[in-house]
Amino acid sequence: MRHVTLIQIFNHHIAKKYLSRSGIAHAIACAYNAFKLAKKSNVSVDLATKAALLHDMGHYTWYSNGKWDYDLYRKNDIHAIKGAERAHKLLIRLGENPIIAKDIALAILFHTDSYMPEGFIKRTPLQEIVKLADEMDEEQGGNHHYRKIEKEKAVKLIERLDEMVDEELENTTEQN
Ligand SMILES: [Fe+2]
Repeated sequence: MRHVTLIQIFNHHIAKKYLSRSGIAHAIACAYNAFKLAKKSNVSVDLATKAALLHDMGHYTWYSNGKWDYDLYRKNDIHAIKGAERAHKLLIRLGENPIIAKDIALAILFHTDSYMPEGFIKRTPLQEIVKLADEMDEEQGGNHHYRKIEKEKAVKLIERLDEMVDEELENTTEQN
């Protein structure tokens, strides 16, 4: 049994606020990517989907003169650090197991090296999955952050993913 489901996370007002900023469609696509990757590599689908769903919740909007300013973003961005902290706080509030919340926060912290020198991070399989899941959904010019999705569709997709995670967890406990 999971302590917290994806839909509980998704319906929380804090998640809503930050995920709308960085793109709900992108967050959901990444969570599905992470599910597939985690299943293939025997990594927890519970942790991978949660980390991928929340991986960009640390984004700040770097605008100057009404337009996204990539230069400002590259110089100042710490979205992985902020996201790790925000996701951890949210998960603990929702009653997540603290060990799981920590692993998810670390996977978010290391999902990008945009704020660190290249090759600095040595990732665990879970951390690698969240990075890959994100890259699989990236579009040129950061367009993945602006892709739209209808609210009802988003909720359906998250609920379906919750079922997939539960099925997968049941299958893996049966095998052990
Ligand atoms: Fe992302």
